[in-house]
Amino acid sequence: MLTLVTGTTGQVGRRFVPRLLAQARPGETVRVLVRDATRGEPFAELGAEVVVGDLRDAEALGKAVAGVDAVVNVAASFRGVPDEEARAVNHEAAVQLGRAALGAGVERFVQVSTGLVYGTGRGRLLTEDDESRPGGGMWGAYPESKARAERELLAMDGLDVRIARLPFVYGEGDPHLAQSLMWAGNWAATQRLHMGHHVDVAQGLLRILHAPGIAGRIYNIADDAPVTAVELHQLNGVEVPEELHTRTDPDPWLVLMSTERIRRELGYRPVYPSVYAARDAGAL
Ligand SMILES: NC(=O)c1ccc[n+]([C@@H]2O[C@H](COP(=O)([O-])OP(=O)(O)OC[C@H]3O[C@@H](n4cnc5c(N)ncnc54)[C@H](OP(=O)(O)O)[C@@H]3O)[C@@H](O)[C@H]2O)c1
Repeated sequence: MLTLVTGTTGQVGRRFVPRLLAQARPGETVRVLVRDATRGEPFAELGAEVVVGDLRDAEALGKAVAGVDAVVNVAASFRGVPDEEARAVNHEAAVQLGRAALGAGVERFVQVSTGLVYGTGRGRLLTEDDESRPGGGMWGAYPESKARAERELLAMDGLDVRIARLPFVYGEGDPHLAQSLMWAGNWAATQRLHMGHHVDVAQGLLRILHAPGIAGRIYNIADDAPVTAVELHQLNGVEVPEELHTRTDPDPWLVLMSTERIRRELGYRPVYPSVYAARDAGAL
């Protein structure tokens, strides 16, 4: 079995690939798509095949999917990029990758998505059956492009698509936890962020990749304990600005997800049920 993984130079992908390789059985191999050959070298050293190219380039997609059995599409463009680029990579290129995969006879396609696709909160944990309701403080080209990619990939006849919706991912030296203050500094004290450690994101993705008979299924991946803006400041050792206590949380259930389905169907159990468990284990 040959598995193509995109986005492996990013925060999630670079931590997922070594775990995918570590649990590979004899005959199972991994191919990565990277934009810069030099940045592919660490993956080659781990035993992965490397294809160099951009996700928006049809020729590169053809090379990337040739002979592949499964795809895990981790790549996305969303950190400070123009909206057109977010749409081109997260929606259009993801769909093109799906088409290329279908044409090449790929058996499974895991699309890495985000809990932001749910849009506004429902006053309870979000479940995979909830429709996307665009809107709210975090809506924009990124969630919109990911939501469209999900929809079009799921509608692709003949391709076994599985969707993984990730929370706010942190851990293992990822600067994301510190970066959370860019937003949390402007939030109300009680506004919460649903977290997921890289170990558990990788666990969830591996379960979704390997499970038989789940074509078309969507799974939330997250931990058990969303943290508030105040806690994010405390975790980062930063004084809590007074203004946080003067603001009101506009949507207390924004992007807080239920993990009931992935637990029940795929046996997922977070190794780090909370960011505090990860901190105590020295895994931040
Ligand atoms: N991190 C989170 O908290 C979080 C939360 C929810 C969902 N997600 C999802 O998880 C996935 C990974 O996120 P991340 O945090 O690892 O993002 P990241 O650190 O920004 O990494 C993005 C990856 O995508 C690649 N990429 C971007 N544009 C590309 C293109 N045109 N062609 C080929 N590769 C391209 C990047 O390659 P370069 O290195 O060459 O730029 C990089 O490897 C994304 O699908 C994201 O939507 C992440």
